[in-house]
Amino acid sequence: MWLNYRNSNSMDAKKREEGDKVRLIGWIASKRVHREKIFINLRDRYGYIQLVARGDMLPTNKYELVKKTNIESAIAVEGVIKRDERAPGGVEIHLTDFIVISPASEWPITLSALKSPGFLFDVRHLSLRGPKSRAIMIIRAELLRAFIEYFLINDYVWIQAPTFITSAVEGGATLFPVKYFDKMAYLTQSAQFYEEAAICAFEKVFVVQPSFRSEKSRTRKHLTEFWHVEAEVAFATHEDIMKVEEELLYYATSKLIERVPNEIKYVRGDLFKPPEPPFEKIKYDEALSILHNKGIDIEWGQDFGAEAEREISKQFEKPFFITHYPVTARSFYHMNDPNRPEVTLSSDLFAPEGYGELTSGGQRIHRYEDLYEKILEFGLNPDEYKWYLELRKYGMPPHSGFGLGVERTLRWLLHLSHIREAILFPRTPTRLYP
Ligand code: 4AD
Ligand code: MG
Repeated sequence: MWLNYRNSNSMDAKKREEGDKVRLIGWIASKRVHREKIFINLRDRYGYIQLVARGDMLPTNKYELVKKTNIESAIAVEGVIKRDERAPGGVEIHLTDFIVISPASEWPITLSALKSPGFLFDVRHLSLRGPKSRAIMIIRAELLRAFIEYFLINDYVWIQAPTFITSAVEGGATLFPVKYFDKMAYLTQSAQFYEEAAICAFEKVFVVQPSFRSEKSRTRKHLTEFWHVEAEVAFATHEDIMKVEEELLYYATSKLIERVPNEIKYVRGDLFKPPEPPFEKIKYDEALSILHNKGIDIEWGQDFGAEAEREISKQFEKPFFITHYPVTARSFYHMNDPNRPEVTLSSDLFAPEGYGELTSGGQRIHRYEDLYEKILEFGLNPDEYKWYLELRKYGMPPHSGFGLGVERTLRWLLHLSHIREAILFPRTPTRLYP
């Protein structure tokens, strides 16, 4: 009924002629009384538009209803288009009818409530209606669309991997156990192993799905549940997969500038420049010496800590790769560099400006014996990787892949102070509600 009632919306109305009669539905985002007029900021799917309730155009009972209706009530309105330079978007709608579809209680998000840190996330089910979180989520939706588009245009097959799994991809320390009838299962950390199985059927695959990490670290860049965009390509080398990462990031960021420039400007204050490939590539060893010059010493073979990651990332203005990580700093499945076996054919793509790691990837071990040996070398149990190993007995070609964190990418692109702003209902060690 209400969908039929509507013959315009906040975007369409801005293109209408003076005097046009329009009907809209939406929510009262804000309301203020100015002399004999009540100004309403109406929110719908497309954005915001200003409504004006005037005593001389509405019946008295309707004017009184506007006055007493709380913000965030769902409403239907009818009115006349009035072009006015002073109105946001150059148009206001002078109301001739006002209907409350569903009234709201007094809105709990007040300026004084905002002072407690985290409050907005305690009431995320309500606060997600705010203009900033709304803009961020619209950009997020477009970012995911662009990622998916890139892969589909380039002939990848979109696959789905299970969430219940039995063995770790990225180390046992961050596995979330779940009771699975009379057995123990875990929540997936990465779809990588399933993608590796799938490439022998489809050559090029990708996934877009949540990954889970039981990381106690309470940082600005860790979630316990994050969205993972992963791709795996048969016959591809480490170099080939870095090229895919560069192209993917350039494609997606270019589409964002094209499709949601106003939202980006609203969140960041300006537009970013899509990073054109190729990106700079530095080896792990070079990264260590850059860090050494900044007074941060990392023992060769160790992974970067949070501070080192931030510092190295600050040295760049465009995304860059750190390549050839030591065997000891990477998971077992990475292929050792045949020219220098103490390092792997692996890389992380880093965001500049201190935001740090966006992706991890590289070439995988595709020979059975090599993988078996490395599993033992890492002190792992080959029985736990039975099917993953078995793949290597049936025509597994050389192959490479990577995983990208959606929220990390958004945090960098939009300069968000905390990763929780990049997801609708964040999950962190201390947040499981709402
Ligand atoms: O570096 P990670 O752990 O690599 C993998 O999982 C590989 N198996 C991916 C692959 O090759 N298919 O995770 C990949 C990316 C990270 O670079 C980061 O952007 C994101 O996932 N990520 C997280 N994002 C938010 N919160 C966390 N706790 C994250 N852990 C990883
Ligand atoms: Mg990583």
